[in-house]
Amino acid sequence: MDHIRIDAGETSLILACAQASSPRIVHWGRWLSDAVVVSELNVLATRQHVFGSELDNVEPSLTMEPGTGFAAAAGLAAHRAGQDWGSRLLVEKAEQTGSTATILARDPVTQVGIQYGFGADPETGLLQITAELTNHGDSPLAVDQMATLCLPIPREMTDIISFSGRWAGEFFREQLARFRGTWLRENRRGRTSHDSFPGVILCEGKTGEQSGEAYGLHLAWSGNHQIRVDTLGSGDVVTSLGAFLYPGEIILAPGESYRSPAIVAGYTSQGLSALSRQFHTHARDKLLRPDVRSRPRPVHYNSWEAVYFDHDIDQLKAMASKAAEVGVERFVLDDGWFGSRRNDRSGLGDWIVSDDVYPEGLAPLVDHVTALGMEMGIWFEPEMVNPDSDLYRAHPDWVLQIEAVEQVPFRHQLVLDISRPEVADYLFEKIDAILGSHKIGYVKWDMNRDLNHPGGQDGQPNAFAQVQALYDLIERIRDAHPTVEIESCSSGGGRADFGILAHSDRIWTSDSNDARDRQSIQRGASFFFPLNVIGSHVGPRQCHITGRTLTMEMRAATAMIGHMGAELNLLTEPAADLETLKAAIALYKEHRQLLHSGDMYRLDSAESLNISGIVATDKSQALYSVACMTSQAETFLPRLKLAGLDAARRYRIKLIWPQGWRSITSPSIVDAMDLTNEGSVHSGEALQTLGLQLPTAFPETVLLFHLGTE
Ligand code: GLA
Repeated sequence: MDHIRIDAGETSLILACAQASSPRIVHWGRWLSDAVVVSELNVLATRQHVFGSELDNVEPSLTMEPGTGFAAAAGLAAHRAGQDWGSRLLVEKAEQTGSTATILARDPVTQVGIQYGFGADPETGLLQITAELTNHGDSPLAVDQMATLCLPIPREMTDIISFSGRWAGEFFREQLARFRGTWLRENRRGRTSHDSFPGVILCEGKTGEQSGEAYGLHLAWSGNHQIRVDTLGSGDVVTSLGAFLYPGEIILAPGESYRSPAIVAGYTSQGLSALSRQFHTHARDKLLRPDVRSRPRPVHYNSWEAVYFDHDIDQLKAMASKAAEVGVERFVLDDGWFGSRRNDRSGLGDWIVSDDVYPEGLAPLVDHVTALGMEMGIWFEPEMVNPDSDLYRAHPDWVLQIEAVEQVPFRHQLVLDISRPEVADYLFEKIDAILGSHKIGYVKWDMNRDLNHPGGQDGQPNAFAQVQALYDLIERIRDAHPTVEIESCSSGGGRADFGILAHSDRIWTSDSNDARDRQSIQRGASFFFPLNVIGSHVGPRQCHITGRTLTMEMRAATAMIGHMGAELNLLTEPAADLETLKAAIALYKEHRQLLHSGDMYRLDSAESLNISGIVATDKSQALYSVACMTSQAETFLPRLKLAGLDAARRYRIKLIWPQGWRSITSPSIVDAMDLTNEGSVHSGEALQTLGLQLPTAFPETVLLFHLGTE
């Protein structure tokens, strides 16, 4: 077989894989009809010799390994004590079954081999790419660096979009013009990180939300990563994604393999929202467990911002009763229920219910919560230990560390080396004991510090092994407690990626519950994550992190566009705000099926606005959120062009939030179209091409419009 060709969704992938040749990508991108033949593509790509360069054109292989002689960034650095570093991988075997393919390539001299796997989602064309390197030699092979794949990207993709941020400010979108040289995202925090999301989008300068070409690539990995876009002297563009490895981190014994984290990669010619829809479908259909996917996402209550470490059983019971009254379905007891954990300086690691605060154990609270018809959830931070804990006193050697190097202080805690079986066993037993003896349906799995000194027991770097051990530990718990849902939290959104999502059910998007910040954080997260995994809570009136005060209407509407929850002291909230929250929760329940299964359309708009819509897959209904963030320069807000509707159908449009909307001046379009009562019926075509004039709204207002067909 000389070539593999996969046509799926709006994408075609053509791989050259002739026996004993370097495997390479001939084409990845726009869908090609059968009329286009591979030989023709090769002819069309003919290059000539240029003085001062190689006589023969050197093509980038799948890994751009040093032995190919490709004089640019290599995707592989592996050697046997300085020998066998110059591998050139030649195809031994290539197979295709429908929209999946494997290529096995090996260097007959260095005895390094890589098995590549390509799987395209038949509907969307989204690719899942794997690569496993095997040491076929008879001496150890050190793998210093390996990209899962190096993917050529057309040079018309002039822009790079990426997401960075900080604690309580995740998913800041950054767009810049690609430049000659290397754009590099390298993460050494040992967790996915707040500041270096492992994904990148390459697109045309003119690409917008509904039009234009874009390539999106994501590394499904919750640890160190290296993502690069190389714009070479030739003008060619190559993107490589892989784990970042410390020296000596991966040393393969003869016969051993290293599985590089998978890449998930999509192409579209229909704009950024279409690209996101491919990622959403992947996350919903491939990563989430079918039973979790099919259950409505329960409304959360989380105790953290209400009581922090100040646990009092009577107060928590009263809080639970209030939560049930406003419509909450899952009550989550956050940090502070175990050991000596009365603040963040002690107790981590001692996963035993605290006698001081729960003299009769957790059962009275769990019983109270379940009697109210809610599910109980609980917080763990398994990978961590406070030095002031019984666990650390008993096993000071269980932590990741570098000998004779002082640990970097970080929230008064250290990281356990969970790749050690005895450590993983301890954690499993403790978590299993709590879950096994209480009716608990949900775990918030937190992780609150970087791995600054990830040295293992024998002095080897263990950052990569730690992530694998994490996935294994979670799976062990899932096997023992298959109905328990797990949320991935890491000081907010520090561990949000498709690697962890294959082992969890929700991500805690950010510790900031400031609805204004959340509008942009959740918009950023939505580039890769579907709404049903984006945890979003209604926070206190005055945000604890930003100090900003926002109305309940704004906070609740923002939390509704995700997996909704509440995280505030319900016992001190004004009665009117509680009524508003109750109404918002009821509205969320009414529309969550649509929100969590529909297709997302973000709209391009001025910075002062954040607009997105969710359209049912059969286009029978839709919900659009229009967040007016700040004042704007123009007198009137723009027309709302409702992308994604069926032009041929007629929709009844209503303004469903804020409830009891009163126009700032009357009559307004809300009155003229009776939008808050009967609504008004219009063609999908008019609504999406001409759009609805938005009514005047104060800054920090979120309007929700619902459209239904009759
Ligand atoms: C992290 C989480 C918070 C909360 C605290 C508890 O910061 O992101 O949501 O659980 O830990 O200590």
